[in-house]
Amino acid sequence: MTRGHESRLKMITGLSHVSIVVPNLDAAAQRLADTYGLKIGDISINEQQGVRMAYVDLGNAKIELMEPSRADSPVAKFLERNPKGGVHHFCVGVDSMDAARADLAGKGAQVLGDGQPQYNVHGERIAFVHPKDFLGALVELEESDSCAIK
Ligand code: CO
Repeated sequence: MTRGHESRLKMITGLSHVSIVVPNLDAAAQRLADTYGLKIGDISINEQQGVRMAYVDLGNAKIELMEPSRADSPVAKFLERNPKGGVHHFCVGVDSMDAARADLAGKGAQVLGDGQPQYNVHGERIAFVHPKDFLGALVELEESDSCAIK
């Protein structure tokens, strides 16, 4: 296999964010500010995902903070199991969602939500790889050419 061939097959472009579900977004932001001097960005709501959220920019990646925006949010179910919150997923960038989905499907890895395209608050396409196919971790894919420096 030539080096050019390898780089053409590269799927993941970098780390975008680590996501933490919290019971209270404002209290979480306050704690990060008080203890670590970290500042959250603007708070937004992703209706499709059922979350009220904000990002902390760490320079080379972000922390995503999420609280449920409605009772039937998947994140609400996570909080039922983990009332104090916790790490929910991490997110890597991909050049092409369609190519990544096809490649992973061909290798037998399950990408969740086949029917409806999903989007993050920036309007970028996202999808989740089932934890059984990423060493037990829930992994979000984000279609972005420069996820790590946004
Ligand atoms: Co995320």
